Amino acid sequence: MAAAPTTHVNCTLDTDLIGDDSIKCEFGRGGLGGLVDNAQEFDCVVDNRKPVPNQCDWASLQQKLPGCAWEPLSPPELAAQRAGISLEEAFSLDQPDEQGRNMYQRLGEEVFRRIANEFYDRVYGDQEKWFTDVFAHSPKPVAIRNNWEFMVQRCGGPMLYSQRKGHPALPRRHAPFECTQRTADRYMHHMDAALAAVPELSEDDRHKLHNYFLHTCHFLAVAQEMRESMQAQAQQAQQAAGGQQGAE
Ligand code: HEM
Repeated sequence: MAAAPTTHVNCTLDTDLIGDDSIKCEFGRGGLGGLVDNAQEFDCVVDNRKPVPNQCDWASLQQKLPGCAWEPLSPPELAAQRAGISLEEAFSLDQPDEQGRNMYQRLGEEVFRRIANEFYDRVYGDQEKWFTDVFAHSPKPVAIRNNWEFMVQRCGGPMLYSQRKGHPALPRRHAPFECTQRTADRYMHHMDAALAAVPELSEDDRHKLHNYFLHTCHFLAVAQEMRESMQAQAQQAQQAAGGQQGAE
């Protein structure tokens, strides 16, 4: 028997400045930007603190549209959406300049050291204890070195960080720390001030670095939420299996 045709549904978050966010879905041949009468909007209050798969009752959506397949945003896409920038903007620091140089070749190691020092001076000097507590188990010189070595490598320079510590695996390495909207905001508050304090950076460099850090903050938050929701689901499944066993 031939498999039932699947309707692919493209869903995006419709972030309203006024009122609740909702989930907008389009399906059929028109696709996004296609025929207006092809678009369907589902009323669903969105909880932005959760990863997209858990923001809406997708199971009930699938009941309304038998055979539909929902295509979620990838974590980098979701992070870009939350940061309010495009993916292209998030990674604009990868664009070579007119002479074909990458950011490291243009700025050199010393500028990345300066940014890391300026940043962590502000982080460790923060009066907000809830924020400094996040860094409480990391000595400042260690955090500074991790940061500039990583950024040198990320911007096309020598692989200093990986030679010393292996794959950056940022989501895994940030698992013990609170990565949320509030820590992201505070992180960016200090990072923007740090970038502004390094005169060797052009406005364009600052803008590109800001976008990269901002996107990465949101990416780390998304990754953390996903890990937590997967852990909660696994726990629920375990409890349900335990309950089932008890009933048998
Ligand atoms: C929500 C925002 C963030 C928070 C709360 C956060 C927190 C932390 C903390 C507490 C550490 C341990 C300090 C150390 O030992 O180095 C750390 C390490 C690190 N962070 Fe972040 N971070 C955030 C965003 C970022 C971003 C945007 C980047 C991108 C450059 C980044 C890159 C790193 C790197 C490379 C390390 C070193 C990891 C290791 O070697 O263990 N972090 N972060």
